[in-house]
Amino acid sequence: MPHSRRSFLGTATALVGGATMIPMLQARGMEASWAGTDPLERALAGGFDVNGIIRLNSNENPYGPSSKAIDAVLKSFDAANRYPRDSDAALRSAIAKRHGVKDENVLIGAGSGETLRIATEAFTSATAHLVAAAPTFENPITAATRLQRPIKAPKVDAQFRLDLDAMAAASPGSGLVFVCNPNNPTGTAYPLSDVLALVDKVNRASPGARILIDEAYFEYCDLPGYDTAIPAALSNKSLIVSRTFSKIFGLAGMRAGYAIAHADTIKALEPWRMANGVSAITAAAAVASCDLDDHVKRQSVLNREVREFTLKTVNAAGFKAHPTYTNFILVEVGRDPNEFQKACLAKGVAIGRAFPPLDKHARISVGTMDEMQRALPIVLGILKGGRADG
Ligand SMILES: Cc1ncc(COP(=O)(O)O)c(C=O)c1O
Repeated sequence: MPHSRRSFLGTATALVGGATMIPMLQARGMEASWAGTDPLERALAGGFDVNGIIRLNSNENPYGPSSKAIDAVLKSFDAANRYPRDSDAALRSAIAKRHGVKDENVLIGAGSGETLRIATEAFTSATAHLVAAAPTFENPITAATRLQRPIKAPKVDAQFRLDLDAMAAASPGSGLVFVCNPNNPTGTAYPLSDVLALVDKVNRASPGARILIDEAYFEYCDLPGYDTAIPAALSNKSLIVSRTFSKIFGLAGMRAGYAIAHADTIKALEPWRMANGVSAITAAAAVASCDLDDHVKRQSVLNREVREFTLKTVNAAGFKAHPTYTNFILVEVGRDPNEFQKACLAKGVAIGRAFPPLDKHARISVGTMDEMQRALPIVLGILKGGRADG
């Protein structure tokens, strides 16, 4: 049930004291008038700009969290004085129920980023390298670099897909093979059968290696044959699947994600977790989000509509936007992506950073239709100007 403006103010004033909270909201003018409205409706009405910047840089959900998650957060403050043992257990169980697995198959983390870092720390070593595509989501690469663990980074193929053969060829002797499906930042994806064929090859070529399938953008992916590797991970101890509450569930700022694997694999990962790393408040939002099938469907339909509009608009302007199965698109900008990013920001649009070795591409997240209708003329205007500062 969406919480009303009255209930939002009631809770907020109870939390911080009516005398300070209400004048603060009034002083904020526009923002105050949104207090208590459903975040999705607010986003659709164009109410989420921060300091006038359209944020298309971090593949966040532009529609905000669900109102169920917000209600759960507000209620959970009552137990904020307690360490999050009960909420950890509740979150683990809610995730297990959502996926039809046992609690022992679930590792929770402060974002799925924590589970990626943990897997890298636990399974790579000075003699067991990381295999991760170039480019892919950098978290495991960053962790391995910091720990001075060796890395093999096969380049993506000509269509910007993970080069699965090259990844399998790089796997002998590895500790962890990171498979981002769909891949950030290229937006490409593989059907489950191809992923499982890779798993099979790695298992045979490198029996000690673990394979981590990152499904952060799972709910956005409409590639025929695409599916989750979770069922395979339950019986194959080498396999781990990671998921996040940051994308379709709109909780990037709350920090909740998880991995699903065989119970023995989860046991090997668990000691690397930061104890009490997922707050009770975050867990409440995530638990409420485990039961949001209609919300997820609506979000993915909205994303697809705006994504198609964005692809068409960019392509019609004569620039190549690559097909994508996510909430972001990769555009060939033909110039230094960092310079281009700066030029866009100077005109009020934040887009993604550079992703080496791609040196002429920019990643642009899919916002709301209203955001894209405002942002694209700016972005394309800079591109057409031919100069990054145009
Ligand atoms: C592919 C991929 N995996 C994992 C993450 C990390 O997400 P979080 O730590 O917010 O769960 C991201 C974030 O953008 C991502 O793109």
